[in-house]
Amino acid sequence: MTRPMYMEEKPQKPVKAAQGTELRCKTWEAEAALRMMENNLDPDVALVPDELIVYGGSGRAARNWRAYHNIVRALKDLEPDETLLVQSGKPVGVIKTYPHASRVLIANANIVPKWSTQENFDKYDQMGLTMYGQMTAGSWIYIATQGILQGTYETVAALADTHYHSDLKGKFVLTAGLGAMSGAQPLAITMNEGIALIVEVFEDRVQQKVNEGYCDILCHTLDEALTHIEKAKTNQTPLSVGLVGNIATVAAELIQKNITPDIITDQTSAHDLLYYYPEGNLQEKLNLRDRDPEQFKKEAQASIVKHVTAILQMQERGAICFDYGNNLRGQAELAGLKIRDDKGRFLYPGFVPAYIRPLFCQGKGPFRWAALSGDPQDILRIDKALLEIFPEDKMLDRWINKAQKSVPFIGLPSRVCWLGYGDRAKFGKVINDLVASGEVKAPIVIGRDHLDCGSVASPNRETEGMKDGSDAIADWPFLNALGNVACGADWVSIHNGGGVGIGYSTHAGMVIVATGTKEKQQRLQRVLTCDPGLGIMRHADAGYEPALKIAQQKNVNIPWMQQNNECL
Ligand SMILES: NC(=O)c1ccc[n+]([C@@H]2O[C@H](COP(=O)([O-])OP(=O)(O)OC[C@H]3O[C@@H](n4cnc5c(N)ncnc54)[C@H](O)[C@@H]3O)[C@@H](O)[C@H]2O)c1
Repeated sequence: MTRPMYMEEKPQKPVKAAQGTELRCKTWEAEAALRMMENNLDPDVALVPDELIVYGGSGRAARNWRAYHNIVRALKDLEPDETLLVQSGKPVGVIKTYPHASRVLIANANIVPKWSTQENFDKYDQMGLTMYGQMTAGSWIYIATQGILQGTYETVAALADTHYHSDLKGKFVLTAGLGAMSGAQPLAITMNEGIALIVEVFEDRVQQKVNEGYCDILCHTLDEALTHIEKAKTNQTPLSVGLVGNIATVAAELIQKNITPDIITDQTSAHDLLYYYPEGNLQEKLNLRDRDPEQFKKEAQASIVKHVTAILQMQERGAICFDYGNNLRGQAELAGLKIRDDKGRFLYPGFVPAYIRPLFCQGKGPFRWAALSGDPQDILRIDKALLEIFPEDKMLDRWINKAQKSVPFIGLPSRVCWLGYGDRAKFGKVINDLVASGEVKAPIVIGRDHLDCGSVASPNRETEGMKDGSDAIADWPFLNALGNVACGADWVSIHNGGGVGIGYSTHAGMVIVATGTKEKQQRLQRVLTCDPGLGIMRHADAGYEPALKIAQQKNVNIPWMQQNNECL
């Protein structure tokens, strides 16, 4: 059976987001959803636009081309008091609601828990019954590599601070993957003054990142790359080298050469074995994947074992190692490698417990916005407002200045920064006021990654090693989605499997459009308070002191805390 794609219905011209102030839909909210879906499929933004793949291996924006056209039509026809229901990338119904309700509700890749395996998903996918939506692909709030760039920048900065109490000057970072999200790695490392070696099997992907200014140079051999890296280490200058090759091979070669990077991570699409390329001739492996996917997966597993074995050896030699959210450790474990200690903890940590959880406890996470006008000036105007209202936030200041210099706009102009509880609602009002006053030319879409403080359950990533053992409790993302619908977000989604693969995560997305109206201001206030508030509730519930403290300071209403206080 082959996945039905209806390729004959693929539009003649590449999909691009409409820009400007002319509406094709009956509301700005439906228009925004349409433009953001189109933006996800823009060839400059999407990984494999012909197959509707946006990022993260096979993360799609719509189930197939027929479903895409039906979504476009449904959004154009959607009345101001109707809501479109999207089931795994296919529009399945329109319901009568009311003008202030959500315009689109999305559920992607969800399978009854006992059936929720990659094998079952692949079967249903081939039957045309479901779609992998990754996190922001199927929920139409992907903003190209910038989205992950800022998260990666924050993570690398937190790592540098934790281990070196400074930046990464003179430090050698080994990683792999120069695809959609992974392509942010070289720039995030050099923005923190470090030296990066990024291994990628596809030469054109390395070249694309060099052309975009995300990566400095392309090399074909490890020796050539190491010469550049040695020189950069001696001169203490930031540098990123994209090496065309397979990370399993390169990592083993580094062991043989007795070279140990200072820091090691990985962002290949290991969460899905069909997108982690085994060692050997690439074209032959691509043919094998078409011909015999099961054999391809077996070979991918063998390469993952070799890759992770090398990581563990380099860790013993002193490298700082962390998993970057692609379930590489989980895949190695499934293939039989011992990857946990006697207490059941992974031998090297994931990036969330290692560096990001303290931010989650404050309700902080990757907040983002996109200009529907298509005009970069709108983003620059909002940047200015952001720095004016948070003058004390030095990290934010550093990021915005660096982003303005080094981050090209791709697709609809957008920006991302990490903001916490209270600040998101405050900033939402500022954006809405800028739309109302006409200082920005069209409404602004406000959303976030699903990798956020209160929107995801993912035991091998965002909720790894929770203090109270609640890693796999998946009620939180459901409550997050339900809360955001109740508060009036414009589109809300619930997905399975983002980042780490089917069955390994449940997560929710939220988007709200600042249209400049008074009514929208009230909804923005509610949604942008509820959404990060769930992060504080979730971490307070797990017993994290900083979350408990912030809940008290900021009056987050947590009934069991009130009872505890009364008992004191
Ligand atoms: N940490 C996070 O916040 C975060 C965010 C998004 C995605 N992810 C995860 O990171 C992974 C990558 O995401 P993406 O969007 O960049 O995916 P992608 O598929 O666009 O890119 C992955 C790249 O890895 C390359 N690759 C695969 N196997 C390789 C190998 N053996 N050697 C060298 N290169 C190899 C691929 O050619 C591809 O270019 C996914 O698993 C995704 O779920 C993590």
